[in-house]
Amino acid sequence: MATNRTFTMIKPDAVEKGHIGGIINMITEAGFRIVSMKLTQLTVADAQKFYAVHSERPFYGELVEFMSRGPIVAAILEKDNAVEAFRTLIGATNPADAAEGTIRKKYATSIGENAVHGSDSDENAAIESAFHFAGREEF
Ligand code: CMP
Repeated sequence: MATNRTFTMIKPDAVEKGHIGGIINMITEAGFRIVSMKLTQLTVADAQKFYAVHSERPFYGELVEFMSRGPIVAAILEKDNAVEAFRTLIGATNPADAAEGTIRKKYATSIGENAVHGSDSDENAAIESAFHFAGREEF
């Protein structure tokens, strides 16, 4: 059964361009409640661990370098069927394929620098949330 939480990051490209406010506004306008949120930065080791599932992919090095190059916003979000609802809101991984009205259509520039992350399953949402937040930081 789908749970009601997902995990997101506003990635370094979107933070650098000043899009934190615009993206959070789209998220809350779409009906998500913010459970946890912080501005933080991944170390290279953090990014390697977070994206370990992609370690055999050709873009892994580029992904780790990108995700650790500057601050990100990490957040846990709540809404019915949160994982699927949030992936619909952010749009396709490649912004060239992202639907009108999605976060990536508006703010992403390439398949690598795609502005936001959204968990792909309830299981990963829980793992990724625990990677960034202690239980006492969930409200
Ligand atoms: P996300 O889905 O948040 O997590 C995996 C990330 O890998 C993805 O966003 C992209 O940022 C990145 N990614 C996926 N495919 C490619 C690719 N072909 N080239 C570069 N980066 C990629």
